[in-house]
Amino acid sequence: MRSDVEKEYLLKAVDSFTRQIIVVSRNYKIIAANQFAKEQFGMDIVGEACFKTLWGCDAPCDECPIAEIIRTQEPALVHKTSSLVYKRTYCHYFYPLFSDEGTVDAVVMLDFDVPFLEGLEEKLQRFNSFLRNLILSSVDGVIAADTKGKVFIFNDAASEISGYTVYEGLNHLMIQDIYVGDGAWEIMRKLRSDEQGGKGKLKSYQVDIVRKNGEKLPISLNAAIVYEGEKEVATIGFFHDLRDEIKMREKLERTQLQLLQANKMASLGKLSAGVAHQLNNPLGSITLFTKLVLEEHELQEEVQEDLERILKDAQRCRDTVKELLEFARQTRYQIKPHDINQALSRTLFLLDKQTLFHNIEIEKNFAEELPLIPGDIQQLNHLFMNLIINAAQAMEGNGKLSIKTELSSDRQKLAIVISDTGPGIPEDILPQIFDPFFTTKEEGEGTGLGLSLAYSIVKNHSGTIEARNKAEGGAVFTIELPLSGPKNGEDDTKIG
Ligand SMILES: Nc1ncnc2c1ncn2[C@@H]1O[C@H](COP(=O)(O)OP(=O)(O)O)[C@@H](O)[C@H]1O
Ligand SMILES: [Mg+2]
Repeated sequence: MRSDVEKEYLLKAVDSFTRQIIVVSRNYKIIAANQFAKEQFGMDIVGEACFKTLWGCDAPCDECPIAEIIRTQEPALVHKTSSLVYKRTYCHYFYPLFSDEGTVDAVVMLDFDVPFLEGLEEKLQRFNSFLRNLILSSVDGVIAADTKGKVFIFNDAASEISGYTVYEGLNHLMIQDIYVGDGAWEIMRKLRSDEQGGKGKLKSYQVDIVRKNGEKLPISLNAAIVYEGEKEVATIGFFHDLRDEIKMREKLERTQLQLLQANKMASLGKLSAGVAHQLNNPLGSITLFTKLVLEEHELQEEVQEDLERILKDAQRCRDTVKELLEFARQTRYQIKPHDINQALSRTLFLLDKQTLFHNIEIEKNFAEELPLIPGDIQQLNHLFMNLIINAAQAMEGNGKLSIKTELSSDRQKLAIVISDTGPGIPEDILPQIFDPFFTTKEEGEGTGLGLSLAYSIVKNHSGTIEARNKAEGGAVFTIELPLSGPKNGEDDTKIG
């Protein structure tokens, strides 16, 4: 039992408390209130209906916490209450007061304001909109989907890469639709394994997506599973278009290959020049002395035939040596402006008299009014001749040879395209055909120097040469020469 003094102090304490303490009966009557509550309402609120005084309503509220507490007999926290009377956001604690029989007699209502929660909510909202902006303005495409694959985040970059509008992305798109074939399934499998980037994550994974127009497009994807506690709730992917990167990588690889080839050529050039010079003199003697023996002696027929064979083979050796020297050319280039169409016509004129060309149809498709190209005409003739003879040999004297010249769209280069209807170049030997001494021809038929010489000549003119096969069969060689001529190349400059 409390003494009267204790009761008096308890009452004083309740009255000096600067929060409202209001007791409401089961039938919504305010049956007690502390001083602070009375001051706040500017009147003695005891005896009034709570819904009227506290909330400004004519009848008990729809979701009355008091009724609820009477039912559950449990205290409750009701927050974010605002009304005519409570202009700010408040929190109310409701506690049941029990009768001696253990039923809820009345409810005590304690208010406190919620600066902490309120600020937090605002901060949370600000943070959420910051995150939203971050995702929307990301340069990378961002797509998030729920566990069923329904897309719920789809930013502008994702729209640009995929070709779907943001509306379509958010309303009609399933994540499975974006990837080629089983792509989405494969990504989910990888996400759940340790393969790339650890469990639940996937790093820099290259995969193809299907754009809205059906076009395939390679992307690099970073993805993660989003968890709430232990539960998977979504997957999110950040990705970018890989086309430019792939193009650049391919260009780099090509340049590296060309560099390798150029290196190989340079060292081989030096070597072959040395060997060729060494061979030239003894070959000269063999030819000379064989001729002398043939001229100065009466010989048996077989001996004469043998010597003639020696002479013929020595001549073949000299031809090879000549080509080697040409390949490792140490002489001066004569760079002058030339009409490439004319040079090609002249080469064709010389060749088509030969039996190899009798059954070959020649199609010329020359661009008109081409500018003159600075170059060494002897070398260029040699280049064209090698390519044209190779084509005729590949077609075994039967087929169509097409020669096309055209200016590049930026008018900086001239392209010469020589194609045939032969069997084409087997893919596995394509990387080797420009190598010195690489040949698939019978001994005595090919030296394997034609294309490496062609390569050197084009390089010396600061151009490029590429070989490929046509889909419908046959090989195509494309040479590009800069209209500006060889770099550092002037009349009489040595670039061998
Ligand atoms: N137009 C072509 N069609 C098919 N294969 C070709 C063609 N041009 C060149 N080749 C291949 O490239 C190889 C190398 O050519 P090249 O350097 O001129 O040497 P060679 O003609 O003496 O064999 C040839 O042996 C041939 O296998
Ligand atoms: Mg050849």
